[in-house]
Amino acid sequence: MNVLLTGGAGYIGSHTAVELLNRGCDIVIADDYSNSSPVAVERIRQITGRDFPAYHADVTDREAVRRIFRENKIDCVIHFAGKKAVGESVKIPLSYYRTNLDAALTVLECMKEASVSRFIFSSGSLNPIPYREDMPRGECSSPYGTTKAMIEKILEDACHADPALSAVLLRYFNPIGAHPSGLIGEDPQGIPNNLLPYIAQVAVGRREKLTVFGGDYPTPDGTCRRDYLHVMDLAAGHHRAACYTMEHPGVTAVNLGTGTPYSVLEVIEAFRKASGREVPYVIGPRRAGDLPEYWADAAKAKELFGWQAQYTLQDMCRDTWAWQSKNPQGYPKA
Ligand code: UD1
Repeated sequence: MNVLLTGGAGYIGSHTAVELLNRGCDIVIADDYSNSSPVAVERIRQITGRDFPAYHADVTDREAVRRIFRENKIDCVIHFAGKKAVGESVKIPLSYYRTNLDAALTVLECMKEASVSRFIFSSGSLNPIPYREDMPRGECSSPYGTTKAMIEKILEDACHADPALSAVLLRYFNPIGAHPSGLIGEDPQGIPNNLLPYIAQVAVGRREKLTVFGGDYPTPDGTCRRDYLHVMDLAAGHHRAACYTMEHPGVTAVNLGTGTPYSVLEVIEAFRKASGREVPYVIGPRRAGDLPEYWADAAKAKELFGWQAQYTLQDMCRDTWAWQSKNPQGYPKA
């Protein structure tokens, strides 16, 4: 199976690339490196000992995408490319709608021209809910979330119109961790929005202390609880989804998660143990928009794909630390 990964140099894309190559798939990467590094592509080659084509391409550029399909026999597309900062999307919504919808539509149209009919949408979290795949999508809390919901709807309509088309909508909440080698990992630009990159940068000395957003939630220790998932488990889920599309036309949404939530304080403690470093923190006010707790019901992934998360929270923290301690400033700048 030859899989095109749009946004394949990014955090989840690069780990999925490693998983696919290790499972014997061929891959092609397309990435514009606007929020990722070409160094990640070299690291994927280093980890797997395998070579593959990588295009420096913006997938809203139709000619660039056509060329990729012309030059490679693609069986399946896993679509990661898109803008993904929740807060930024509230400030510049048009840019989010333009980029994310344009990218998905361009790839889908070029797939049709090239008679490629299998598509995995790395949808992520639309909104904290739905917990279960069959719940209505409802209103999203940000333009970013809305672009995800709109692309899911586009895929449903496209699959309805074309019985040969197969699409899996993968939903997940909080991917963390890194490849155990520490060669690839999450490399946010600027001040991290998300918990684990922030903790890791405190532990490595790049930032002084963490602010825990809220200590008075109705949870066992007063801090929010989330379904953290090792990015290698998430990558394995993407591989299973790609295999699934080979046999199953139509569209289906599938959650990927552990089903077990951990609180912010539990994550800090697990990270302290895994890294041997202190993580100084203060409890601050709540962050607007945060829900007390949520987690995925991952029963459907087990039933359809035989997929279940394997890594523990301790593993996630160990591998985040392997990445951060080996790459304190992230990927080297070109
Ligand atoms: C966010 C995104 C979600 C995305 C996910 C990726 C929102 C509403 N959702 O989820 O779309 O898929 O990241 O991992 O933004 N926290 C602190 N201090 C910090 C940072 C975070 O206490 O400096 C807390 C938050 O309050 C939250 C938990 O840590 O309780 C996790 O936060 P974060 O990593 O930002 O993820 P989510 O908000 O769950």
